[in-house]
Amino acid sequence: MTKPMHPTPLLDELETGPWPSFVTGLKRLAQDKDYVVDLLGTLETSYRTKKGYWKGGTVGVYGYGGGVIPRFTELKNDDGSPVYPDAAELHTLRVQPPPGMHYTTDVLRKMCDIWERHGTGLIAFHGQSGDIMFQGAKTADVQAAFDEINEMGFDLGGAGPAVRTAMSCVGAARCEQSCYDEARAHHTVINTFTDDIHRPALPYKFKFKFSGCANDCMNSIQRADMAVIGTWRDNMRADEDLARRWFAKHGMNELVNDVVVRCPTKAIRLKEVRELRSGDGAAHLTTVKVSDTHALEIDNKDCVRCMHCINVMTGALAHGADTGATILIGGKRTLKIGDLMGTVAVPFMRLKTDEDFEQLVDLGRRVIDFFAENALEHERTGEMIERIGLVNFLEGVGIEIDPNMVATPRTNPYVRTDGWDDEVAKIEARKAAG
Ligand code: HEM
Ligand code: SF4
Ligand code: SF4
Repeated sequence: MTKPMHPTPLLDELETGPWPSFVTGLKRLAQDKDYVVDLLGTLETSYRTKKGYWKGGTVGVYGYGGGVIPRFTELKNDDGSPVYPDAAELHTLRVQPPPGMHYTTDVLRKMCDIWERHGTGLIAFHGQSGDIMFQGAKTADVQAAFDEINEMGFDLGGAGPAVRTAMSCVGAARCEQSCYDEARAHHTVINTFTDDIHRPALPYKFKFKFSGCANDCMNSIQRADMAVIGTWRDNMRADEDLARRWFAKHGMNELVNDVVVRCPTKAIRLKEVRELRSGDGAAHLTTVKVSDTHALEIDNKDCVRCMHCINVMTGALAHGADTGATILIGGKRTLKIGDLMGTVAVPFMRLKTDEDFEQLVDLGRRVIDFFAENALEHERTGEMIERIGLVNFLEGVGIEIDPNMVATPRTNPYVRTDGWDDEVAKIEARKAAG
């Protein structure tokens, strides 16, 4: 039994556009839920007055300091009672997705059933935080809903000044560009920091994100305090048969204008087959014939692993076999200072063995510890690094400083060269050690 719908002339207009409308979805849920009838009433009021009517509060489940986003209505009658009493509380549960966001339909059905029983039935896969957002439950129902979700093996995500829910791309499961096992990295890292997710105790939020290659489907470089992005350090691989087939289909214009000239570091050349180099001097080159007369020559020393040519000619070109990840620290959106992309802290970390993954976890722990000790209240890692300087941060977390980390080399004429030869010798020794 549901009460009659409130008139919603403004929301109705949203259903007239060409795309499926969330209003239609809400109306469907409202057919047997007074909760959603009143939610539609609240929303219509907001559209009419152009005001939001929700305030925060404190709602949680036993043992957790975060993960539930409380919302209470502020749309009140003169006597203080809610105008839409059935939707006076509309809390959201943040639930962590599995790595790579892999679900079985069975799991999805169970989640829908749980939320229809305990909440509005409205679920978002996934919010910007990376979580499955179970939207709209009353205070009294939050614990029971969580218990059932938890019983399925899922856990609440992060909220507030804590380690947040992580995300990883579909990667190794289905994508040929993947350079490491993102799901394993995600799972290993996030299980290490479960305590820091559930009990907010950091200066501010801290996010991990895992992308299998520089296409960065997780946007980790912009969004994560610690971004783990797949890369390789040997030569790119090539497949002549696929390269010839690609060329036969796409032709010279596309090869030149879409592949060769779009390489950001001009690492690719179009060569006549008879000009191709081979032997010792060509060890850093990847060459592949696209026809009997023409070939591509890629200088791997100049390639910055941006993925562009591989994306255009997938299969004909592929990442190398010595794969791992680049670790970048400090990406974030505007807060105290403007948007920041992550800064490379570790150019290459091998990610194959148990020890490799332990090394990744260990770095995460050092960065979080340093952040906890040194960041100001409400300051992200990127801002902390801007304030204290990259050198101090790297020394603090015990990362060797590399000349490649100088953002704009050769722009300052005042250079001190004392100790130059010693430093060069140190870098050469480090390079030789691989
Ligand atoms: C004027 C009204 C509102 C403003 C300006 C606002 C603003 C925001 C912003 C900026 C975010 C971050 C979004 C992101 O990370 O992409 C956010 C997230 C969120 N808001 Fe609101 N909000 C409003 C109303 C509401 C209402 C009415 C609710 C629930 C009743 C709500 C619940 C949430 C939740 C649960 C999140 C987390 C979503 C996620 O992690 O993906 N907000 N809000
Ligand atoms: S980031 Fe790379 S590996 Fe991951 S899904 Fe995207 S293209 Fe594939
Ligand atoms: S992956 Fe390397 S060679 Fe290919 S376009 Fe990017 S920088 Fe150039």
